[in-house]
Amino acid sequence: GITRHYEFNIKMQNVTRLCHTKSMVTVNGKFPGPRIVAREGDRLVIKVTNHVASNISIHWHGIRQLRSGWADGPAYITQCPIQTGQSYVYDFTVVGQRGTLWWHGHISWLRSTLYGPLIILPKHNVPYPFEKPYKEVPVIFGGGPNVSDAYTINGLPGPLYNCSAKDTFKLKVKPGKTYLLRIINAALNDELFFSIANHTLTVVAVDAIYVKPFETDIILITPGQTTNVLLKTKPNFPGAAFLMTARPYVTGQGTFDNSSVAGILEYKFPSFHLKKHPLFKPTLPPLNDTSFATNFTKKLRSLASPQFPANVPKKVDKQLFFTVSLGTNPCDHKNQTCQGPNGTKFSASVNNISFALPTTALLQAHFFGQSNGVYNPNFPINPFHWFNYTGNPPNNTMVSNGTKVLVLPFNTSVELILQDTSILGGESHPLHLHGFNFFVVGQGFGNYDPQKDPKNFNLVDPIERNTVGVPSGGWVAIRFLADNPGVWFMHCHLEVHVSWGLKMAWLVLDGKLPNQKLLPPPEDLPKC
Ligand code: C2O
Repeated sequence: GITRHYEFNIKMQNVTRLCHTKSMVTVNGKFPGPRIVAREGDRLVIKVTNHVASNISIHWHGIRQLRSGWADGPAYITQCPIQTGQSYVYDFTVVGQRGTLWWHGHISWLRSTLYGPLIILPKHNVPYPFEKPYKEVPVIFGGGPNVSDAYTINGLPGPLYNCSAKDTFKLKVKPGKTYLLRIINAALNDELFFSIANHTLTVVAVDAIYVKPFETDIILITPGQTTNVLLKTKPNFPGAAFLMTARPYVTGQGTFDNSSVAGILEYKFPSFHLKKHPLFKPTLPPLNDTSFATNFTKKLRSLASPQFPANVPKKVDKQLFFTVSLGTNPCDHKNQTCQGPNGTKFSASVNNISFALPTTALLQAHFFGQSNGVYNPNFPINPFHWFNYTGNPPNNTMVSNGTKVLVLPFNTSVELILQDTSILGGESHPLHLHGFNFFVVGQGFGNYDPQKDPKNFNLVDPIERNTVGVPSGGWVAIRFLADNPGVWFMHCHLEVHVSWGLKMAWLVLDGKLPNQKLLPPPEDLPKC
């Protein structure tokens, strides 16, 4: 591989959308941010300089960071943030991955405007395991409630919102060609359906992993995930344009559908004019279409070919069971804002622990032997309080706050059941694991049954990925091999749930051999 250098200057930039101009935090003044392109095996050296008033940190979402955890990016987990006027060089090599990933800010809510594609091409002379596309196009969803008035495609809200028709993403295509769309869900809080009117999509990869190709009119994508699809254009100019739309999938009541975001697929044709030709619209499933969601996820299978095998851990060293919960805690009205029902506040937890970010980085504390007072190595392998997860809402005020990590010896083979407890809300929780890909060996609704469910696990061609939707009122089973020493964050990729504490960290110890140890930190590693 070669070394590729990038410079990210974090600065404020005025951006106008929906007829309002806002000053936002950007990379190099661009929104969405710049595209990073590398080949498998390349080294990326990205210098990030902070020219804004707030602290900054950038995460390379889905990059395995083998032994280079210092470059992973989550603030207070692998590094202290980059302070105003400071720089930090993220230096890592892309090993054994090819496809679409992305990068984003990883401190407070800054990822709402700090994000962009990270594209990994296969090695030279290694073809795709599918038809060579004529062109490749990133399609990145952003925005959403709490931070903006609209969802966006490639930063543009599209024609369905007032005052934004001219801010529409247009994909201009030629007839009879195959396009590779690299779809990324960078939205803050919503799983999205996506479709292009009158066109079928062939899913070929997710999270930089090839899958067994399958055709679908609609895809479902959670925040944090990527999906590569092939789009075959019609053989001749169709005399029409086609809307592409995305909108949320949520099963809870009281959720909004603040309409869809749309872009336009337009065939290049000399006399084409949007006003003269019809515009076809796709049909998306209802907001709460769980059966579509379930069927779609079931179709995702690793390619599992001799060239791209699915190395599913067959034996398990450690079996873990985590509850993923939203609940409420008592709120002290004098010192806190209490947004929960009946004067409570929201809290979110994994195994009844709502994760508290430390004031220094966990990885530093670990590496320099200064964990005392920073974290406890006693994250529970089972919930503190067992209950029937899908019965009536239990008394969920037994959440405690803490900075606990789960320690794994090098090369531990882990099976983890993630059980949603569905106390509030009806969304899947897109659980994202840093530093690893995992295999989704099983999933279901209701309570996980340790007697029956493992009999149906797929150990042959389960999907391999870095972010999985834990279904509302259900569970998923994942397996991974802890072959990457360091401290690795795991959290829900819905930003509002992260802020309520739906996060935890793993500490994977060094192995015995020299090439099984975390590399020493770079000299410019930021200090807290
Ligand atoms: Cu894409 Cu920890 O995040």
